[in-house]
Amino acid sequence: SLPKKVTIIEVGPRDGLQNEKNLVETDVKLEFIHLLKNSGVTEMELTSFVSPKWVPQMSDAKSIMKKADLAERSIVLAPNAKGVELAQEAGAKNIAVFVGVSNTFNQKNINRTTDESVEALAPVILKLKEEQVFVRACISTAFYCPYEGKIEVEDCIELCRKFVALGVDELSVADTIGMANPVESYELFTRLRQSFPSVLLTAHFHDTRKMALANIFASLQAGIDRFDTAAGGLGGCPFADGATGNVATEDVVNMLDSLKISTGIDVKNVCEAVGKIAPHVSRPIESGMYRLFENG
Ligand code: HMG
Ligand code: MG
Repeated sequence: SLPKKVTIIEVGPRDGLQNEKNLVETDVKLEFIHLLKNSGVTEMELTSFVSPKWVPQMSDAKSIMKKADLAERSIVLAPNAKGVELAQEAGAKNIAVFVGVSNTFNQKNINRTTDESVEALAPVILKLKEEQVFVRACISTAFYCPYEGKIEVEDCIELCRKFVALGVDELSVADTIGMANPVESYELFTRLRQSFPSVLLTAHFHDTRKMALANIFASLQAGIDRFDTAAGGLGGCPFADGATGNVATEDVVNMLDSLKISTGIDVKNVCEAVGKIAPHVSRPIESGMYRLFENG
């Protein structure tokens, strides 16, 4: 049976913008965040404390963290101890680390093997948990890798198990390049739900092949009630060839509305936030609900 209520984690300000070549002004990002919060979003990824050489778009992370209108849970990404330190200095209370199941992807994304990353992050996570910081672990290339192909379910579960053992509060498990199908989504999330009953479990679908809504429905059937989505369907990882946008918040909320599953988010207000960011991004907004909104 389907859940009555779903939590949307809005990742537009982070995943949505990180792949944009033109630098979006900090004030525009802050307005986008403000409008998203006012649309009813309670959990949001704001920015990333990553190397500004690797991802110039996120180089204003400190200002964003300090000035943003914070949602109930505002999360920032950090790839390593240095990122965590900078995030905490800026006042972050909720931190997401990220690692790929695929070694090749992980090397391209954070310049370390997967094992090296877990080893380096372990003491960092343990310390954050001592300080009662909320820790989210984002697991990339959980289904497919652009370089290594199909990822085994067991390999994904093994990596998740290491983070759960370190005490993370949440696993966000990602179809980085939008290749998963609904059967694969149902199978992986059923296994994850059974394996890790005590952590928050979130699905993160990119919509490269327009299968994300189908995958979300399959994940709902597997008992998942948390989804990462990006307003406007913006998004993509700069280090994953062929990765395009996240599934659009407004389309997911609309589907859930029609299924009588509540999110607390207002589709029209999300579309207004999209309207603010649209002139500042290089790609067209292709979500169904934004098109309807634009055409009145
Ligand atoms: P590296 O070059 O190996 O770093 O990059 P290093 O440790 O050798 O340090 C080199 C320099 O960077 C040093 O400065 C460090 O201080 C500095 P220098 O001495 O040369 O002046 N540095 C930093 N500066 C700011 N913040 C930091 C930081 N760390 C080191 N945190 C590194 C390794 C991890 C830093 C780099 O590869 C990086 O920043 N990668 C980030 C990549 C990224 O942001 N990817 C997108 C997010 S993940 C994603 O989108 C997937 C997700 O959506 C789920 C899905 O869809 O799959 C979550
Ligand atoms: Mg992503």
